[in-house]
Amino acid sequence: MHDQEKAPAEEGRRPDVEGESLLNRRSLLAGTAGLVGAMLMGAVTPSAEAATENLPEDPTRVPGTTPSAYGQRSTFEKSVRIPRSWWSSLTPLQDSHGILTPSALHFERHHNGVPTIQPAQHRLLIHGMVEQPWTFTLDDLKRFPSVSRLTFIECSGNSAPEWHKPAGQTAQQTHGLTSTSEWTGVALKTVLREVGVHPDASWMLAEGSDAAAMTRSLPLAPILEEAMLCYAQNGEPLRPEQGYPLRLLIPGWEGNTCIKWLRRLKLGRAPFMTREETSQYTDLMPDGTARQFTMVMDAKSVITSPSGGQRIQPGFQEIRGLAWSGRGRITLVEVSTDGGRSWQQTALQEPILPKCHTRFHFPWQWNGEDVTLQSRCLDDIGYRQPDRATLVAVRGVNSVYHYNAIQSWHIAADGKVSNVHA
Ligand code: CO
Repeated sequence: MHDQEKAPAEEGRRPDVEGESLLNRRSLLAGTAGLVGAMLMGAVTPSAEAATENLPEDPTRVPGTTPSAYGQRSTFEKSVRIPRSWWSSLTPLQDSHGILTPSALHFERHHNGVPTIQPAQHRLLIHGMVEQPWTFTLDDLKRFPSVSRLTFIECSGNSAPEWHKPAGQTAQQTHGLTSTSEWTGVALKTVLREVGVHPDASWMLAEGSDAAAMTRSLPLAPILEEAMLCYAQNGEPLRPEQGYPLRLLIPGWEGNTCIKWLRRLKLGRAPFMTREETSQYTDLMPDGTARQFTMVMDAKSVITSPSGGQRIQPGFQEIRGLAWSGRGRITLVEVSTDGGRSWQQTALQEPILPKCHTRFHFPWQWNGEDVTLQSRCLDDIGYRQPDRATLVAVRGVNSVYHYNAIQSWHIAADGKVSNVHA
């Protein structure tokens, strides 16, 4: 099922977590002086100039704006999703802080557009091998005990263009089909207990009410403990593009299994073999066979800063990034600043949650030489993120889905960062 190399968990050295030896006053200020110098010489972006036109020079001299009904971010902030196609858009991971993705920047993947659904008219039908088929309203579902969980959702097609060549120019383009939210809803097992699942039922069909009627078959046993029927994301109702008013969530499983705009669950004895498990979402192997029902997302990491498209200055750099595993907690993230010849342990930032983005940091001094940065992670089942050669040796290059190889960022002597396959 999953066939990449495994390594035992390591007792790592303590990383230089605070960066004391690197982050001294002189090195940091030296870098800042260069930046201020560049700004004074006119290196201000046109959009920043336009935004400051009508503003007072001194914000303490005029009253500010009044409270508003629904908040917006500062007009100075421009980070946005990039639509990759009519069916997906990418999260700007290089601009993110901490582990949460703002709801407005959560990546999108839909199969025939975002439907508009009136919540009062939405229904969830549960039928098939159950004692009491039932139709639930949203209010019905909200009466059940609620649960919340921070977890990532990653599209199994994340990084897919990287199978063939260094395709994405930025971390957003290479890795932006993953995002983390706090999801709230009712545990699937709570609702299934209510309808009474037949003991022989081992598969569940989940169907959305979008114009694709997106449908997948899910084995019941591995998802029953953790799956949720979600109506909220980051403290408010789901965003329309995230399945408003109801979605399935299976922590750690590929995004397409977390059926959005959920309207139907059918229990049965076997997979239902929809188009999504035959023509789509199978992984073509080098011998011509295809892996099927590969739903768990393996461990993966990416350095978000410095990352592709950025330009850095010599001196202190905090290397920052995200790591995640669909199988559990991240236990170790290492970075290499020499193209994979040597590795150093990074500091993991709390909270370190299972099946959730985990933030890592590593203090570094760039001396202005040509280098290649990489990160690799280990999860708590002992699975280590593979390098590209190892992944390709097992899977070939025609899988489309589940590309989780080590990402390499090349830094040229002029500080420009670009995507390479090292
Ligand atoms: Co898969």
